[in-house]
Amino acid sequence: MSEPKVITIYTTKGGVGKTTTAIHLADYLHSKGAKVALIDADERAMLTEAVMGSPENLPFPTHFFENPAGVEDLDQAQVMIGAMIDKIEEAQDGNDYVIIDCGGYNSQASLAASAVADLTIIPANTGRFDLVQTIEVHGKIQAIAAQMGKVPNVRVLISRVNLATNLYAGFRAALKEKEIKTFDNSIPTYTAISEATFMGASVFKYRATSPAAAFMQRFAEEAVAELEKEEN
Ligand SMILES: Nc1ncnc2c1ncn2[C@@H]1O[C@H](COP(=O)(O)OP(=O)(O)OP(=O)(O)O)[C@@H](O)[C@H]1O
Ligand SMILES: [Mg+2]
Repeated sequence: MSEPKVITIYTTKGGVGKTTTAIHLADYLHSKGAKVALIDADERAMLTEAVMGSPENLPFPTHFFENPAGVEDLDQAQVMIGAMIDKIEEAQDGNDYVIIDCGGYNSQASLAASAVADLTIIPANTGRFDLVQTIEVHGKIQAIAAQMGKVPNVRVLISRVNLATNLYAGFRAALKEKEIKTFDNSIPTYTAISEATFMGASVFKYRATSPAAAFMQRFAEEAVAELEKEEN
C-alpha cells in the first residue's frame, strides 16, 4: 500500500453520526486487513471512551488531540493547526488509514484536518439546520484549503434519514444546487445502529446480517472507491 490515507469526519452540527461513521469505517477497513489508527479530535473524547470501553470490538490505536472549542485568537489557531498536522503524521506511522473524528463545534484544527485529508466526510441529517451548517462548513473547508494550497475532497454523508421521503430528495437537491458532492449511499435510521453504539460495537459485529450493516457496508465501499480514485 502507498501513503497512508487520511479520512476526516467533520461538521459543526452535533449528534449527526460523526463518531458512528468513524467507528464503522474503521471496523470495515480493519475487516479487510488494513491497519487503522484513529484520532479523537473532540474535546469530550467520546470516541476514546468508546474504544477504551470496548477494546475487543474496537481494536484501534487511538490518539487524542486536545482540541478545545472556541479558539478565536489567530496565533493560537495557527498553533492548533500545526499541532493537528503533527498529530496526523504521528498517527500515520505504520498504518494504512488514519480516521479523524472531530467535535461538533467550530475548530480551526478540524478545518485544517478536513483540508489536508484524502477524503473528508460531512455527515448530515435532513434538518433545516443541517443544511445551513453543512453549507457553512463546506465553504470554510474550501477557504482554509485554498490558504494551505490544497484541493480538498469533501463529500456529504446523509445519515439518520428516511429514504422514502420528499425531505430526503429535497435535501439532496439542495446540496446539489450548491455544488456540494454527496455519497450515493445514505444511512437510514436504524435502531440496530444506536444499539450497536450502546454496546460499544459496529453493526458489522453487533448485527452482521442486518439491513443497517448492508447500508453501512455499501457506504464504506463507496468511501474506499473514492480514495482509490484519488490515488490516480
Ligand atoms: N443511522 C442511524 N440510525 C440510528 N441511530 C443513529 C444513526 N446514526 C447515528 N445514530 C445514533 O445517534 C447518536 C449520535 O451519533 P454520534 O455520536 O455518531 O454523533 P456525533 O455527530 O459524533 O455526535 P457529537 O457531535 O456529539 O460528537 C448515537 O447514539 C448513534 O448510535
Ligand atoms: Mg462524536
